[in-house]
Amino acid sequence: MLDQEVSIEIVLVASILHDIGKTKIDVSKIFSPTGKTFGSLKEWKKHPEFGVPIAHKILTEMGHSKEFIEKVCHLVEYHDARGDEIKNKSIELQVLQDADLIADCGFAGFIRPFLYGSKFSRQIIGSIKYLQSEINRVAQDGMLNLEVSKIIAERKIELEQKLIKEMSQDINCDLL
Ligand SMILES: [Fe+2]
Repeated sequence: MLDQEVSIEIVLVASILHDIGKTKIDVSKIFSPTGKTFGSLKEWKKHPEFGVPIAHKILTEMGHSKEFIEKVCHLVEYHDARGDEIKNKSIELQVLQDADLIADCGFAGFIRPFLYGSKFSRQIIGSIKYLQSEINRVAQDGMLNLEVSKIIAERKIELEQKLIKEMSQDINCDLL
């Protein structure tokens, strides 16, 4: 049981706006024609901060209260601050962070390397090898905040692993 009030409206609005700062990142600093650049993470990490003024402007124009805007902008700014990067996370921030990670698990986690690979004309076998060797970051300790999120993520990771296993078995099949 949660012992603090949760604003679903703040979580939902922040979930829509949390990545809006990605529109301001310099894509040329993240991707080269062949894949990610050396400094990609540094540029990528800027998107929460970039999102704050954009979210602020949108919510102000929509007529939301100052308090509401501040709370949503706080979530936008810190949605990527995982683990102990910040202390005393509000329940809304914990929910947003966990949902953000869980969205990349399961079938989404399985299909993403193929989508990414196709962007850079990577051979499918490269994406398969990536899936076989990498463990979804959600499975790392300290990534998720809430116990319920760990249960949801575990189910999704199981599905992801099952898909990888079945695909690997088919690839090793003599019929191929
Ligand atoms: Fe993000």
